Amino acid sequence: MKALIASGGRGTRLRPITHTQNKHLIPIANKPILFYSIEAAVHAGIKQIGIVHNADSLEVPEYVGDGSRWGVRITYIPQETPGGLAQVVGLAEKFVAGDKFLFYLGDNMLVGGVKRFIDEFERSGCNCYLTLSRVKDPERFGVPEIRDGRIVRVEEKPSIPKSNFAVAGIYLYDSHIFEAVRSLKPSARGELEISDAHTYLIEQGFTVGYTEITGWWKDTGKPSDLLEANRLILDSIEPRNEGTVDAASDVAGRVIIEPGARIGNSKIRGPVIIGRDVVVENSYIGPYSSIGDRTHIRNSEVEYSIVLRDCRIQNVGIRIEGSILGNDVEVVESAGKPRVHRFMIGDQSRVEIA
Ligand code: DAU
Repeated sequence: MKALIASGGRGTRLRPITHTQNKHLIPIANKPILFYSIEAAVHAGIKQIGIVHNADSLEVPEYVGDGSRWGVRITYIPQETPGGLAQVVGLAEKFVAGDKFLFYLGDNMLVGGVKRFIDEFERSGCNCYLTLSRVKDPERFGVPEIRDGRIVRVEEKPSIPKSNFAVAGIYLYDSHIFEAVRSLKPSARGELEISDAHTYLIEQGFTVGYTEITGWWKDTGKPSDLLEANRLILDSIEPRNEGTVDAASDVAGRVIIEPGARIGNSKIRGPVIIGRDVVVENSYIGPYSSIGDRTHIRNSEVEYSIVLRDCRIQNVGIRIEGSILGNDVEVVESAGKPRVHRFMIGDQSRVEIA
């Protein structure tokens, strides 16, 4: 069993953060989203992982490395332009080399790992095994039509969904998927759709099994998804303090404080993770906040937010809430009168002022 992970695409819905950073490297609870899929494969015992990345950027290969830190081998497979998930699979035929494989979308997050799905797939003898999750908005996903307990077709982002299930981005295949991929033509949006490959397999008489994901699963396509994923991961962190907290501070709940971080005269209400060498002074950090390495927060309040590395938040009069701040962002009080808002904001940023 091998694993193939998709880390390409353009991440347009997460701009402006994705103007300068691959979306799969955005941290959730201070760990890149992509690492959750790699670790899921590693924990399931998989030793060979292929990662498809945008050919015009070495950001993912350089950041993730050769896999030795997890004791596995990672092979990088460049994709010239994001032509769809079926194209991603097609590019991996040589890497897969006749084995069965797990295909994991690198922007999907799942609690509970993938071992159960792999075992069920192996036992079932199916050619393809899909994981389904009940959702409120199936029109955003690949949606199965199920009759008498069998999937009869899968439609990509249908306007009238035939069920309340999304096909999650965790798929299991044998090598017949390559035959399906070769048969496809681009969809109306110009992509080779993985849902069409699944429908092809069904129509050609291959066995397509499925299981329901009963735990938590999330496709982190939108900013609100990132915040929710952050909330869920933080809910299960093991508290530890490797930094310094002075006597005037009050830290309660599940809180991780990484080495070199300093908390002075502040209130931290977990679940919260505070990165390395962060400084928090005269401030409040509320539940479900992740603070990236070397960020400084002074005389300010932050809650339910993701703050990336090297930010500066200083003397901000109103609590920052439900926010995502990229790397090296400054939110500071401007000196002098009159009191004004002064912005220096990149393309496609979004600021809400109450
Ligand atoms: O999250 C589950 C959904 O993922 C499924 O229900 C859909 O059937 C499936 O098409 C996919 O839909 P999305 O609209 O969420 O796909 P997205 O374009 O966001 O790409 C998913 C991942 O694959 C993401 O990590 C980026 C990567 N990707 C995407 C494309 C189109 C690539 O690496 N290369 C590509 O060409």
